[in-house]
Amino acid sequence: MRLTKLTLVSVLSYIVASLCSAQPSELNTELQTKYKQYQSTLAAKKAKDLFQVPDVIHQNKQTQRWYGIERIDKGKAIYNQLCIGCHLKDGIGTENWQESLDEGGYPPPPLNGTAHTWHHPLGQLHEVIKYGLIEYGSSMPAWGAVLSDDQILDLIASFQSYWSDETYQSWLERH
Ligand code: HEC
Repeated sequence: MRLTKLTLVSVLSYIVASLCSAQPSELNTELQTKYKQYQSTLAAKKAKDLFQVPDVIHQNKQTQRWYGIERIDKGKAIYNQLCIGCHLKDGIGTENWQESLDEGGYPPPPLNGTAHTWHHPLGQLHEVIKYGLIEYGSSMPAWGAVLSDDQILDLIASFQSYWSDETYQSWLERH
């Protein structure tokens, strides 16, 4: 019984690990080159180029949130290309996202409001997506070379659309 469980756990972790490591290499060569160049100039850029989030926190009539349906749709299309390999379908993330990995860092967390994404203000979420977390020993890539600031906002809208009204409200009140 114990052995079967162990085997199952290792097979699952293998699948999750290969899914995660497969994602950046699935980008075409041009994107990969851009990505590498971007990573190497990251520190210099980061120092002077921190994105200032525009005043987007206002109610949209359709959604009662800061973003409209159009942003959600655009964000989902990008998400399904670039993020789904690690954060999985609809941002459900890895089940054991709180357990640190042997090689350092943590598995991709859920972005759908069930983990701690709502602890971060909009500007910080934007920064994490733009600059990644690789310098902190995580596998979260930097997307600033391939996505505009506005597309990053689309992505945030897309995963926030899975948040319950309660979670969204707590996020608004917290930041
Ligand atoms: C190679 C795997 C991988 C890919 C691809 C990836 N991520 Fe991540 N992401 C991670 C990991 C791992 C973390 C957690 C880092 C940590 O906490 O150590 C993370 C963290 C995040 C966080 C912070 C979440 C929080 O609650 O603190 C956001 C937001 C995020 N990713 C968004 C995205 C978006 C949007 C995309 C697609 C453009 C994307 N990620 C693609 C691996 C990935």
